[in-house]
Amino acid sequence: MVDFLRRFAVGNHGKDIGKTFVLEDESGTLHGFVTLAAASIDKSVLPDDLAAGLPGFPVPAALVARLAVQLPSRGQGMAEQLMQEAFRRILSASESLAIRLVMVDALSPDAARFWEKQGFIPAPSAPLCLFLPVATLRAANTSSKTP
Ligand SMILES: CC(C)(COP(=O)(O)OP(=O)(O)OC[C@H]1O[C@@H](n2cnc3c(N)ncnc32)[C@H](O)[C@@H]1OP(=O)(O)O)[C@@H](O)C(=O)NCCC(=O)NCCS
Repeated sequence: MVDFLRRFAVGNHGKDIGKTFVLEDESGTLHGFVTLAAASIDKSVLPDDLAAGLPGFPVPAALVARLAVQLPSRGQGMAEQLMQEAFRRILSASESLAIRLVMVDALSPDAARFWEKQGFIPAPSAPLCLFLPVATLRAANTSSKTP
C-alpha cells in the first residue's frame, strides 16, 4: 500500500487525476486510504430507479476510485471511517458542483458485496459498477444532525 501511495497516489493527487486521503492514527501508523475523482456515467448504465427523470446526457458523478485498508487493520471499522470521510468531502463538493451519484468500480464480487452492504446499487449489466445517490447521503447527513 505504501508503495502504491508513493508511486501513484502522490503524483495523481498533484495532477488532479485522483485525490487520495489516508487514514493514520496518532502514532503515524497508516491504516488505509481512499481516492476520489470526478466522473460521469451514461444514463443507460444506471438501474431504472436511478435513471428515472434524468435527461439524456451524461450524469455527473463522484468516483470512489480506490478504497483499501491494510490487512492488519481490517475488521475494525477503518473502511467505514474512510467512506464517511469520502462522503463528507463529496457532499461538501456537491454544494457548488452538481454531483448526482457516488459511483464505485468494485475490484471483485467480494468488494461489490462490501459496497452493497453500504447501500450501493449495482448496475444491471455490470454488477461490479455500483451507485449511491448523493440525495441519499444528504438525507442521511441531515437526519444525523437533527437532535
Ligand atoms: C473491503 C475492505 C475495504 C474492508 O475494510 P475493513 O476496514 O475491514 O471494513 P470495516 O471494518 O470498516 O467494515 C465496515 C462494514 O463492512 C463490512 N465488510 C467488510 N468487508 C466486507 C466484505 N468483503 N463484504 C461484505 N461486507 C464487508 C463489515 O462487516 C462492516 O459491516 P458492519 O458495520 O455491519 O459490521 C478491505 O477488506 C480491503 O481493503 N479490501 C481490499 C480492497 C477492496 O476490496 N476495496 C474495496 C473495493 S474497491
